[in-house]
Amino acid sequence: MFPRDFAWGAATAAYQIEGGWQADGRGASIWDTFSHGTGRVFGDHSGDVACNSYELWEEDLKCILQLGLTHYRLSVSWARLLPDGTTQHVNHKGVQYYNKVIDDLLAAHVSPVVTLYHFDLPQALQDQGGWKSSNIASFFNSYAQFCFQTFGDRVKLWITINEPYVCAKLGHEDGIHAPGLKEPGVAAYLVGHNMLRAHALAWHSYDKIFRPKQKGLVSLALNSDWLEALDPDCAEDIAATQRHFAFTLGWFASPVFVTGDYPEVMRTVIEANSQKYGYTGESRLPFFSKDEPAILGTADFFALNYYTSRKVTSASGLFDKLSMKSDQDVQDVLDPSWPISGVSWLAVVPDGLRKLLNYIKKNFGDPAIHITENGFAQVGQLQMEDVQRAEFYKQTISEVAKAITEDGVNVRGYFAWSLMDNFEWADGYSARFGLFHVDFSDEKRTRTIYHSGKEYAKLIKKYSS
Ligand code: GAL
Repeated sequence: MFPRDFAWGAATAAYQIEGGWQADGRGASIWDTFSHGTGRVFGDHSGDVACNSYELWEEDLKCILQLGLTHYRLSVSWARLLPDGTTQHVNHKGVQYYNKVIDDLLAAHVSPVVTLYHFDLPQALQDQGGWKSSNIASFFNSYAQFCFQTFGDRVKLWITINEPYVCAKLGHEDGIHAPGLKEPGVAAYLVGHNMLRAHALAWHSYDKIFRPKQKGLVSLALNSDWLEALDPDCAEDIAATQRHFAFTLGWFASPVFVTGDYPEVMRTVIEANSQKYGYTGESRLPFFSKDEPAILGTADFFALNYYTSRKVTSASGLFDKLSMKSDQDVQDVLDPSWPISGVSWLAVVPDGLRKLLNYIKKNFGDPAIHITENGFAQVGQLQMEDVQRAEFYKQTISEVAKAITEDGVNVRGYFAWSLMDNFEWADGYSARFGLFHVDFSDEKRTRTIYHSGKEYAKLIKKYSS
């Protein structure tokens, strides 16, 4: 049912688990700065210690082995490797740390999947304009080359940037993620653009310089909900759904997988709204330069983060000021029949994933797909016997199986989010996504497997034997 070499994984990200924020010469990242402010993160929590994976990596490895994973997706911290963001200063202790993680994984027959950027820009580069600055693409390219050079003899699956949509929108439009900018309707498009340029430069570097010897694959991880029209017979709702897809998944997937440029509807709507709201600067949706390496074709597989589904209807001009919302002009709702997980935005819709996989097959050239994140949150009262989450994984994985066997979608891997409870961005430690519970009140950050972790291990065993 699942191919023999299917990747069974779990994922984490550096800032969410490592802690050791000042250990051994690590530089500061934008999430250090953001979380050290007040009133930005639930309970003013920060990732200063988090799961302390910087000191307790071997405990993480035990969890990985207990689950029977074939793959582990981690991210490397740019500022731990290059404290000021540039290759002028390499932090050798940081290199040592990730070398050990990678070597230990391989010794245990677990393949590392490494993300270069998971929300944590070195603060030194933010001080020079961050993702809004055009120069960031070449800084990122140097960093990526450094990582390919240093770890690429052993790492064969790479993700350049995790969720450019979330970085752009939550970090620069809504201001609820680092760096906390609120510049509606303008900054996010620029940030998204520079992220695509940065990704493409890194992919081309890999393709030319490293792939011939290292023979790995490189992609970027795109998040998407499954979207469907609130009223499937209403033309306006159908158009709104298409627009919603274009402004979220299409924003990044169209340039990379289909046309080399943004969806047409983004261009037309954004231009029209610039005029409507008297915006006179350069086009809010930048153009790709012919003098830079092409964006089209810069993904060796499709990396998808899926969490939930939405019903979509037109907003009919409700948001009447310059913003991404007014460009998009949609409203979305959760179907009341969908159960809600611990976090309010995450409704449990396992078959939404099957539909989304089919949508990607149809619209983005039938690529090989890795589901690089999928998960379920608990909040409130701790439940070690988390039957609801165990059921969630069982159902979701059976939908993935159907997508493979009945629909012929080329799914190559599935990564649960997350290996263990961790720093859930603006929600701090209040939302628990882990397959392992982490006791954040205990200095040892003891990890204990949840019922859902045991069930995930059983599923892996069942499907991979
Ligand atoms: C994703 C993100 C992860 C994780 C997850 C759950 O957007 O990549 O870092 O936090 O959401 O909210």
